[in-house]
Amino acid sequence: MTSFSVGLLGHGTVGAAFEALLAERAEAIAATTGRRPELSGVLTRSRGDFDDILARSDLVVELMGGLEPARDHVVRTLEAGKPVVTANKQLLSQHGDELFGAAHTAGVDLRFEAAVGGVVPAIRVLHETLAAAEVERVHGIVNGTTNFILTEMTRTGASYAQALADAQRLGYAEADPSDDVNGKDAAAKMTILARLAFGAAVGLDQVTYEGIEHVTSADIAYARELRLSLKLIGTAERVDGGGLSVRVHPAFLYAGHPLASVDGSFNAVTIESPAITEITLSGPGAGGSQTASAVLGDVVSAMLPPPVPPAPAAPVEIVSDIESAFYLHLEVADRPGVLAQIAEILGLQGVSVKSVVQEGLGADARLTIVVHPIRESKFLAAVSLIGRLDFLRVPPRWIRVIEEVFE
Ligand SMILES: NC(=O)c1ccc[n+]([C@@H]2O[C@H](COP(=O)([O-])OP(=O)(O)OC[C@H]3O[C@@H](n4cnc5c(N)ncnc54)[C@H](OP(=O)(O)O)[C@@H]3O)[C@@H](O)[C@H]2O)c1
Repeated sequence: MTSFSVGLLGHGTVGAAFEALLAERAEAIAATTGRRPELSGVLTRSRGDFDDILARSDLVVELMGGLEPARDHVVRTLEAGKPVVTANKQLLSQHGDELFGAAHTAGVDLRFEAAVGGVVPAIRVLHETLAAAEVERVHGIVNGTTNFILTEMTRTGASYAQALADAQRLGYAEADPSDDVNGKDAAAKMTILARLAFGAAVGLDQVTYEGIEHVTSADIAYARELRLSLKLIGTAERVDGGGLSVRVHPAFLYAGHPLASVDGSFNAVTIESPAITEITLSGPGAGGSQTASAVLGDVVSAMLPPPVPPAPAAPVEIVSDIESAFYLHLEVADRPGVLAQIAEILGLQGVSVKSVVQEGLGADARLTIVVHPIRESKFLAAVSLIGRLDFLRVPPRWIRVIEEVFE
């Protein structure tokens, strides 16, 4: 039986797990593909030489992370006519056009299942199973750290800081969790999903993202009271009149939404299309062995001919001012006329109120207002005016509400 040489760039958490899994599964893969995969070389900062590994490999797996030299090595591998498997979301979200262009020109595979949602096979389903479906919207919980933190806040009533400390102690958050909690990691993953779902060249700089750092126990208590779930949601969707919106922000979900019950460090992606209504894929988020398993799945796919080089993505108009329902949290002096003044400002901007809950806080009151879907710019204009009212005790806070349910 012939062998299939795999060059491995990076031997950290995922790279080491990949090497072990490859050895364990080599016989089974040989039985499926007719070729036995074996490592041709490993590159780290202290070991191996890229040119030498490239010359001896049929395929290269990039698990170094970061932009350089990962970008250089991936491009040079593709230009040499050899397929690449990568788990590097930052690289794909910032240099996607160059990398997919190089793969297309060379007519070789560039596979990246592990870059999005742990073992959730969202890429494969979008690329292969749903290749003929017209996708309208993709929603994702694509960051396990933030989902773990929000789930802990809901389950135990802990503050954001306490839940983050727990996540770090249990290994669900890194020592520097910035890119997870500020939404950037999820934003990078949404550019990859948007590219596949809509054939659109979306870069990280075109995604609006917000994180969970400002979520409070009061928001969570409100969610629990109304049986809503608060999640960090990534969205890529077609917008009426053309264009795409790609964004990441915390959002309340009703219980009938498939992502509402995705808890802990799990990831999930919901794909909506008229042909299928919706399908949801969920599973464990990141982790060395889970990610290695998704990487190995890509290697096996690349070993099965013929490769399908992805078509170059088209430029797209990105729409940022989209409609959403909102939850608005205000702390005000408890005196007559306050609610009327707020209602007037909302009304003047065309914001229509769905519900108001008022709660006494001694001489002050807490108002929790949910408004019907409205263009974000109009809502924010109203919030800015409300923010100037002299009876406001703290700056207004708001969170988007996703109203869809599938029941
Ligand atoms: N960890 C996860 O759960 C997970 C999940 C999904 C996706 N990913 C992605 O998978 C990739 C790898 O993540 P990881 O957690 O395995 O990273 P890691 O533990 O930090 O390992 C990185 C490896 O790459 C090597 N490396 C880094 N820069 C290099 C350079 N300039 N030249 C040569 N070697 C270099 C390192 O070498 P040294 O050993 O010499 O330092 C190390 O072996 C990243 O793109 C990450 O985003 C990770």
